[in-house]
Amino acid sequence: MCGIFGYVGKRTNAGQLVIDGIKNLEYRGYDSWGVACKRGENILVEKNTGKISGVDSQQFAEECMQAIAHTRWATHGGVTKENAHPHVSTDSTIAVVHNGIIENYQQLRDELKKKGHTFLSETDTEVIPHLIEEELQNTEDFASAVRSACKRCEGRYAILAMHTTSQTLVAARTGSPLIVGVSPEDGYFIASDIPAFMEYTRTVQYLDDGEMVVTDGQSILFMSIETGEEHPKREIEITWTIEEAQKGDFDHFMMKEIMDQKESIARAVNQDEEQIRVVAEAISKARGTFLVGCGTAGKACMASEYFFSVIADHHVNFAPASEFKLYHHFLKQESLLIVISQSGETADVLEAMKVAKSKGAKVLAIVNVEGSTIDREADYSLLINAGPERAVASTKALTGQLAVLMLIAYAMAGKLREGKTLLLETASLINDMLNPRYIRRIEDLAESIKEKEDLYIIGKSWNYPMALESAIKIQEVSNVHAEGFAGGELKHGPIALVEDKTPCIALVGNDEVTTDILSNTIELKARGAQTIGVSPSNNEAFDEWIKVPDAGHAQALVNIIPIQILAYFLAVKRGKDPDMPRNLAKSVTVK
Ligand code: AGP
Repeated sequence: MCGIFGYVGKRTNAGQLVIDGIKNLEYRGYDSWGVACKRGENILVEKNTGKISGVDSQQFAEECMQAIAHTRWATHGGVTKENAHPHVSTDSTIAVVHNGIIENYQQLRDELKKKGHTFLSETDTEVIPHLIEEELQNTEDFASAVRSACKRCEGRYAILAMHTTSQTLVAARTGSPLIVGVSPEDGYFIASDIPAFMEYTRTVQYLDDGEMVVTDGQSILFMSIETGEEHPKREIEITWTIEEAQKGDFDHFMMKEIMDQKESIARAVNQDEEQIRVVAEAISKARGTFLVGCGTAGKACMASEYFFSVIADHHVNFAPASEFKLYHHFLKQESLLIVISQSGETADVLEAMKVAKSKGAKVLAIVNVEGSTIDREADYSLLINAGPERAVASTKALTGQLAVLMLIAYAMAGKLREGKTLLLETASLINDMLNPRYIRRIEDLAESIKEKEDLYIIGKSWNYPMALESAIKIQEVSNVHAEGFAGGELKHGPIALVEDKTPCIALVGNDEVTTDILSNTIELKARGAQTIGVSPSNNEAFDEWIKVPDAGHAQALVNIIPIQILAYFLAVKRGKDPDMPRNLAKSVTVK
């Protein structure tokens, strides 16, 4: 969580540049913001609570060739101006922005206080500029002081640091993402994510864990935090375009990304067939395949338990990444861990990978962000090619993940071509489905239920994880109390929650479990629920029917789409900003 962005180079409006750029990282946190600009031998810090998108960058247009900025998702310390970054040293000569958590900050803070350092915030971050200040008593080299300070920090961090008398911008990472944008014309950009600097360059260099960089805007040095040893770094050209990362004519990224599914699913399906076969074989050969992910990505993992079972007759084990400890002792050299993540940076997923690797198991990643930590650290990696997903609510990443997982299941059954055909047909059905009339129909439904405070969703088989996912989507953007259940579990407790006209959505397919889920819907109707069927065909069980195409085994991909649209409109009609849900950030890089 939190986004950081720094620039040093030939451009003379560094302050304005970092403020404009970090607005593209607002999805990482929107509690508060801040910027530090270097002017001559002074560092000017400006920070406040509130959203960075509301800040007029013009006020930072004054000449400055080095600046760092931050957009915050609070962890340590409340949302106050004092807790906003940048944080500075006691003598105000050093400014630092940080993403992550310094776990031993209490101990460091106590130690620094004893040495006379004054702290102005409740954050863990503030120890960093003070530690650097302390280290500068032993060396005149700013980068060496930052390196020594980093060696004292435990936990996860990506930091940017600058000093009044040094021309260099220094960055370091352990656990949280950091990417350098390289532009021979402009200089160097360093950010938590690429959209911050995409306007200037698409040539990037990724920092690995335990690495730091030092740049004066003309050249850059990569080195180890531990040893200080310098090493070369490969430059990579990224394929995402600036247009893909923008909202275009849409009011919100969430709706833009729902509509992107017209093309993104087909892109996910068009994988290199040979690679899919290699992965399928690795799963077949593995002695124990485990799938982990968080939130929406976790629901894709859960759905794949059904895909592998039904399509490939193969058993896999799913756990939310944060609960994976349960399986640690089963991991062996012959095991395979499949990790699913849109961002490729989720801390709990990285932790699961670390454990699996320590046991000698192989890791397959299915990610959206190329070059992300998970993408780079996995033994094999498949990209879902959804393009940038900026809204906190994950939409097109989910359908891409489901498509790739289903493709692998078909490959395991020796039916890759059949699976590919089904999924491409489904992609085309979704393309047709996402038309203005269909969207309006769901908007009308949202209008009719927008005042309801409770909403339940049921499903069976692969529609069960989709019911859970539906609940996440509705909860996070509209703040309606939504819960998903397995249809068959209703009568074991949850049905007691149903009151007169409680909206209950049933996700239905045209398959062997249809009769059961329709019975469950009728049970809800008999208790006074307002039943809404998302189904290829209408049924007397439904008070309202949202028609979806019949996609056979790919029904999960189709059924979730009207719910994404419903969640979006519920949010908008309840006066919420769907792109910035309360208390949430897109990349969860803390455990
Ligand atoms: C989805 O709408 C959520 N915002 C969230 O559950 C998300 O899917 C989760 O944090 C995992 O993120 P990742 O895919 O980037 O790992």
